Amino acid sequence: MPATFASRLICTLGWCRGQDKGKMIKSACHDNQAEHYDLQVKNSQNDTSDYIRENYATIHQTALHMLELNPRDRLLDIGIGTALLEEKITTKLSFYGIDISERMLAKAQEKGLSIELKKGSFLSIPYPEKYFTKIVTCFAFHHLDDTEKSVAIDEMFRVLTSNGILVIADFMYKNKTEKANLTKRFTTEGRKDMLEEMEEENFTDIEWLTGIIKRYGRKIYTRQGSTISWIVKAA
Ligand SMILES: C[S@@+](CC[C@H](N)C(=O)[O-])C[C@H]1O[C@@H](n2cnc3c(N)ncnc32)[C@H](O)[C@@H]1O
Repeated sequence: MPATFASRLICTLGWCRGQDKGKMIKSACHDNQAEHYDLQVKNSQNDTSDYIRENYATIHQTALHMLELNPRDRLLDIGIGTALLEEKITTKLSFYGIDISERMLAKAQEKGLSIELKKGSFLSIPYPEKYFTKIVTCFAFHHLDDTEKSVAIDEMFRVLTSNGILVIADFMYKNKTEKANLTKRFTTEGRKDMLEEMEEENFTDIEWLTGIIKRYGRKIYTRQGSTISWIVKAA
């Protein structure tokens, strides 16, 4: 099995389903990835056939740039994983991170960064109204189905200040035409792994997401980060 395919299998929910036919709960799946997550990300940096991790570091940098961080900020990272994003932040500010996986949180904790870490989900963020000036989430939103995504957006705007900034970086496509084009491309390239990924994971339709975010009266800015990743900013 090529290295790319192996690492892809280990980093997605598809892998969890394969392990025990859909019965494994999501947090347990992510718990299993925690030990080797940083190494997998590092090893995939130079693998040009890895669409999942393509431009991973650059996407983090773009997300940070879009957040316009300043020392007065209170920043929440949802699905913080092992805190790879926070390792790149040089501004001194108040960091908070939540994740459904205790082992991911333990790995983040081991790094000794000054972050308040809590077990928590997009669907029920364990903080009060308007607590954060900035919210970010990277490569985690696709773990939610559309109904959950809608609840998550409500939750994120509940805990974000009225003039705060939300940045979502994840697997997305611009609209249904773009999705069809990607399907054609992966078929032509013989990338059965990517076709399965698109079917099993819930890549966000940016048109749909924009409609939901606009209900909050926010402006949306989008930037493509890789073949299958986009960074969406709501401000
Ligand atoms: C692929 S990792 C990304 C980690 C990190 N954000 C990064 O950029 O490297 C996805 C993370 O999302 C977390 N996650 C999945 N579903 C979640 C949910 N409903 N609420 C919070 N975190 C979730 C997983 O436990 C995992 O740590």
